[in-house]
Amino acid sequence: MIRQLPKKTYPRPFLKWAGGKSRLIQQYIPHLPKNYKTYYEPFIGGGAVFFYLQPPAAALTDINAELITTYRCVRDQVEEVICLLREHKVRHNRDYYYAVRANSGNTELEQAARLIYLNRTCFNGLYRVNSKGQFNVPLGRYENPNICQEDSLRAASAALASTDIRQADFIDVLNYATSSDDFVFCDPPYHPISNTSYFTSYSQNSFNEKDQERLRNTCAELANRGVKVMISNSDCELIRNLYQQINFKIYPIAAARSINSNTKKRGIIYELLITSY
Ligand SMILES: C[S@@+](CC[C@H](N)C(=O)[O-])C[C@H]1O[C@@H](n2cnc3c(N)ncnc32)[C@H](O)[C@@H]1O
Repeated sequence: MIRQLPKKTYPRPFLKWAGGKSRLIQQYIPHLPKNYKTYYEPFIGGGAVFFYLQPPAAALTDINAELITTYRCVRDQVEEVICLLREHKVRHNRDYYYAVRANSGNTELEQAARLIYLNRTCFNGLYRVNSKGQFNVPLGRYENPNICQEDSLRAASAALASTDIRQADFIDVLNYATSSDDFVFCDPPYHPISNTSYFTSYSQNSFNEKDQERLRNTCAELANRGVKVMISNSDCELIRNLYQQINFKIYPIAAARSINSNTKKRGIIYELLITSY
């Protein structure tokens, strides 16, 4: 008799996050460095590249405090997070969603379960807050949202077990990445390619041209130390100029199809993958 092996759940993002990289990873593979010891991701978001690489040592940071609390709780107390999510799952309906949305939670565990619950049930899995920092995305239209993906959360927890997770501005990476044993992947909020392009506010602070320049300077400093640096961004003049000035290599990556009401204007949108090596 053939014994049925349990289906293995591979670690993967447990949050939907704007700009998630899951679909682009195959195109990234040829550009990844062959050797490194410690992986740094200063704009972790949904963490698609981290979960794909599963590096033995990693430091993950993001400016979004709720997001970082959620990662830390999934790493350290995944069974408690699952327990709270089961309760959200049982009680989920329209009124319950808006009640949870209005109450940011007392403990870190409650905040983590709330973020995952809202992420699974809100419109398009968006993360958006108002000027007071309050989550304000409406309820999404899902028949049966997958609120508590237990196996996936446990697999993510195991992958995060030995990672260092902190809330910080990206510049903090300069305090840690110092040598050619280090690999830094930066996936910042993209520079908009046109005035009408879709823009998502990831946090209370938007990411402007000065920040793109600050990031470029940070990457230049890391490269001077011998650190391997890889950056993703939109394909536009500002970004190309910033990285051409420091002789980084620039590769176009075919991303999603554009959404245009005029079908003739729909086409593949390219974005950039930029490396120091
Ligand atoms: C494009 S998302 C990252 C997507 C992610 N790599 C993925 O695959 O799902 C950008 C992230 O940058 C974070 N962010 C914005 N400004 C930042 C800053 N100054 N320092 C660090 N993180 C920042 C946002 O909170 C957001 O999570």
